[in-house]
Amino acid sequence: MGRNPWFETVAEAQRRAKKYLPSTVYGALVAGSERGRTLDDNTGAFAELGFAPRVVGHHAQRDLSTTVLGVESAIPVVISPTGVQAVHPDGEVAVARAAANRGVIMGLSSFASKPVEEVAEANPNTFYQMYWTGTRDAMAQRMERARAAGAKALIATLDWSFSHGRDWGSPAIPEKIDLKTMVKLAPNVLPHPRWLWTFAKSGRIPDLTTPNLQPPGGTAPTFFGAYGEWMQTTPPTWDDVKWMREEWGGPFMLKGVSRVDDAKRAVDVGVSGISVSNHGGNNLDTTPASIRLLPSIAEAVGDEIEVLLDGGVRRGGDVAKALALGARAVLIGRAYLWGLAANGQAGVENVLDILRGGLDSAVLGLGHSSIHELTPDDLVVPDGFTRTAGAPRTAGSAG
Ligand SMILES: Cc1cc2nc3c(=O)[nH]c(=O)nc-3n(C[C@H](O)[C@H](O)[C@H](O)COP(=O)(O)O)c2cc1C
Repeated sequence: MGRNPWFETVAEAQRRAKKYLPSTVYGALVAGSERGRTLDDNTGAFAELGFAPRVVGHHAQRDLSTTVLGVESAIPVVISPTGVQAVHPDGEVAVARAAANRGVIMGLSSFASKPVEEVAEANPNTFYQMYWTGTRDAMAQRMERARAAGAKALIATLDWSFSHGRDWGSPAIPEKIDLKTMVKLAPNVLPHPRWLWTFAKSGRIPDLTTPNLQPPGGTAPTFFGAYGEWMQTTPPTWDDVKWMREEWGGPFMLKGVSRVDDAKRAVDVGVSGISVSNHGGNNLDTTPASIRLLPSIAEAVGDEIEVLLDGGVRRGGDVAKALALGARAVLIGRAYLWGLAANGQAGVENVLDILRGGLDSAVLGLGHSSIHELTPDDLVVPDGFTRTAGAPRTAGSAG
């Protein structure tokens, strides 16, 4: 009898991903930077937060639903955009379908392997993510394309600073995959027959191009070609962010906020929401875990815009903790990538079910009937847990 493809925790999905994926692909998903301190803190900080459960007075019915930037979501969890190729032949389309089946919003990276049209068809609640790369004309054209495909919001990710080195070594990722590179990669790939078989069955080899960055009448750049253009683009100013928001014209989220003053500037330029995020620990290492920075940012701007969080969410309990500390919803990255690697679309659904189940247990045990009732009183927050960046320290906020 074959192994049960269902897994009970995200940790188990990650174990299976490690087994099934070639080490280069697995390494690209683990990512992180330098010492990996932020990467570890993102998950470790959630473990430091304790619950304060109630013993009696639990509710039989519990509402886990919300809206994010005006779009309904069955649970306060959004698929975070990841520009990761080669995990699964159906890639972001499988993720979008899984999210749609679970009533969850799909965030699609502009560096993804599937075109926005296919992804938005698979999940009408798709948010499109862009970096600041290329000319304003090219960016306006990409926005127009995403809008025409039906994307319901734009996520601008602006925190990236091209930090690459890792103490544990970075995976070698080829520019494109052809026969020559297949032969070169063989020692890495052949011990992972399941991954190879999934691609073989689909009749495709991993395609390291970025279809969403294809100019009209041109060809899609390779992942590294696109990355090169991005590195050479002059970084945006706050005026550029304002331009981007106006050019998009609809709901707009700025992703990658760590500082209170940045959150306030984001409000000033008219964003609809922000995500408190350190790019999953892949950016400037030693940036504190996003959950540590969330309370001061939520306190400063939470009444004016929607404050989301991403980084380190692996359990439904983590979602509850983020909401208790002021997030409207969270975005997840690696959690669904492990699910996708472990079992394709069903694996992503499995991950969303795990998060839903864990969140529901937390809301039950904390004695609430809705996620909207979660507050810091539901948690035991250790002294010195929070951090504040970009604001004068007050007695309550010093970490
Ligand atoms: C492999 C990988 C690729 C990513 N690519 C993108 C991307 O293209 N665009 C983006 O906005 N964020 C990207 N991110 C960051 C995620 O959207 C998200 O911020 C992060 O994964 C959250 O942390 P978590 O993985 O601990 O959930 C990427 C993250 C990973 C791990």
